Amino acid sequence: MAKLVIIYGTGFGNTGIMAKALEEGAKNAGLDVTIKKVDESSPADVEKADAIAIGLATYKGAGMPSVIKYVEGLAKVPLKGKLGTAFGSYGWSGEGPIVITNMLKGYGMNVMEPPLRIKRIPEEEGKEDCRKLGRLIAAKIKK
Ligand SMILES: Cc1cc2nc3c(=O)[nH]c(=O)nc-3n(C[C@H](O)[C@H](O)[C@H](O)COP(=O)(O)O)c2cc1C
Repeated sequence: MAKLVIIYGTGFGNTGIMAKALEEGAKNAGLDVTIKKVDESSPADVEKADAIAIGLATYKGAGMPSVIKYVEGLAKVPLKGKLGTAFGSYGWSGEGPIVITNMLKGYGMNVMEPPLRIKRIPEEEGKEDCRKLGRLIAAKIKK
């Protein structure tokens, strides 16, 4: 079974809502999905993944530092050729997912662009966009 690992950081839960909708879409499309908050995750979590999705909110013009640090720590994991994507909730500028997109590209990953960014609290339409992303990831990595 093709495997998606979702790692995310959220301050007030909005990016968490996105992560859970993404999980739902991917699971319904037949993927083996692991979802973890960044504080509970280690680089070993992504080693066996076919795709990784990194979620983070934007604060003070930057992505959440805990998530940036986590992704920096993935430099030692062989990610080249795996599918990668970033997503996150934001208020007005939304730099976080853009920064992660560039980091994943730097690791030689096959990165989906543009990253999925949703303003503030995801409503039903936003949640459906997250489920859709899960289905799209499934279509790309299903064995
Ligand atoms: C102190 C503070 C600073 C913020 N700075 C930014 C910012 O620079 N750019 C932006 O797009 N949103 C900013 N936001 C908005 C958050 O990204 C937005 O509320 C988002 O929904 C939070 O997602 P989360 O619930 O996953 O943490 C800021 C919010 C707070 C409370």
